[in-house]
Amino acid sequence: MALEKVIIIGGGISGVAAALALQQQQRHVSIYELRDGPSTIGGALNLTPNALRYLDAWNVLPKLLPRGCSVGSFELYNMIDGTMTAEMPLGNVARFGYQVMRILRKDLLDALLETLGEQGVSVEYGKAVSEIQEIEGGIRAVFKDGTSVDGQLLLGCDGIHSRTRMGLVEPERRPIYTKIAVVLGLVDAASLTSPIHFRDTAFNMSPNGSLIASYFNPDRRQIFLGALMQTEEEKDRDGWRVRGSDQDRLGEELKTRFKDIRIPCLSEMIANVNELSLYPVHKLTGGGRWSRGGVVMLLGDAAHAMPPQGESVGYALEDVALFAELLKGCESPAQLPQLFQRYEDLRRPRIDAALKETEFRWAQSTHDTGWLKFKMQQWAMPWFLWFTRDKKEEDFSSDVRKLIE
Ligand SMILES: Cc1cc2nc3c(=O)[nH]c(=O)nc-3n(C[C@H](O)[C@H](O)[C@H](O)COP(=O)(O)OP(=O)(O)OC[C@H]3O[C@@H](n4cnc5c(N)ncnc54)[C@H](O)[C@@H]3O)c2cc1C
Ligand SMILES: *[C@@H]1O[C@H](CO)[C@@H](O)[C@H](O)[C@H]1NC(C)=O
Repeated sequence: MALEKVIIIGGGISGVAAALALQQQQRHVSIYELRDGPSTIGGALNLTPNALRYLDAWNVLPKLLPRGCSVGSFELYNMIDGTMTAEMPLGNVARFGYQVMRILRKDLLDALLETLGEQGVSVEYGKAVSEIQEIEGGIRAVFKDGTSVDGQLLLGCDGIHSRTRMGLVEPERRPIYTKIAVVLGLVDAASLTSPIHFRDTAFNMSPNGSLIASYFNPDRRQIFLGALMQTEEEKDRDGWRVRGSDQDRLGEELKTRFKDIRIPCLSEMIANVNELSLYPVHKLTGGGRWSRGGVVMLLGDAAHAMPPQGESVGYALEDVALFAELLKGCESPAQLPQLFQRYEDLRRPRIDAALKETEFRWAQSTHDTGWLKFKMQQWAMPWFLWFTRDKKEEDFSSDVRKLIE
């Protein structure tokens, strides 16, 4: 039996990228998304040189350049005294092959979907998978609307709240609330009167939480603002929804939290920010199972969601690039168990290391702290960046496809 039919669950970033990569290998793919159309929500994502390398290979890069903003360095500021804490250069295009880019999640998803459309593939919307069953010779996805589809390989690209994971691969591995919620919004740059303190992207820290401020499109007319704030958990999704829909309350929360900061343009941004939305940040514990029975594999956040650190999309796209590269020579479903093993052997060390670094950075810069601890963190930050810089540069220039000889 030949490997003919691949089912992809989730029309987010990794799902659409996987569809593209496999379509380019002339595989028959079908892709299903729970929402009724492409999601338009979400803030500005960071694309690492790794992410851009694979997006280029899948012919998506030309569609991103006119939409995103190139980022030359990552700037860190102390909002208490208004000084720059550290700066991490990112623009070593000669070494990395690619720049770093900020882009709205919606614009990245649109660019992926347009490219997929040009290949003659479209996402089937309004298809929430409710159950996944192992069947003779393959796998079946059952949808909430009562329909189902059979295939020989199923890729679970359904994000942190993955049904594929919690319904079949590893029901015990559930999302954990990080005690941090993010408030996202957009600011018109023209509405600011004080000088803008950063060039491209700034991570601004205080003992009360952090603010990310970044350009995200080529004309730099708008600024993306994201606040990371320690926040009590709501009882359920509805609780978060109600809280997130109250624009005035969200605005007031930002004003109180960041009342005494010493970077005037950030105070102005908080006063002028539009279209606020609120998301609780969840993560998964490390390790865990990624696959089942040589027929189901989890990719992206479904396998290893980490707290936001600007590299999650890069890791998700690396998953897709490596998995697709391994699949190139695969003729029959009988080869899949071995291929899965190979994939996990190559992938685990990098993901484990990334999670460790993320947990460390996250603990240093997001939760509410006392003054002394904050001062020590500010002092340690440049050292931390300096120590990890070689490793980071090596990561940015590495190509997962070259792991396979
Ligand atoms: C709406 C949205 C907004 C986001 N905004 C941000 C942001 O502002 N900043 C940031 O850093 N990260 C954001 N993320 C997360 C970020 O996109 C991911 O960390 C990263 O892109 C890895 O993507 P992924 O494709 O693995 O998962 P995701 O991007 O989460 O995509 C998973 C997809 O699967 C679909 N899905 C889930 N369950 C089912 C089901 N049962 N059946 C069918 N489909 C299903 C989801 O609707 C979603 O489209 C957002 C994710 C989503 C879904
Ligand atoms: C931190 O939050 C408290 C209110 O909880 C506020 O009084 C204080 O001014 C804030 N600090 C800064 C630096 O804005």
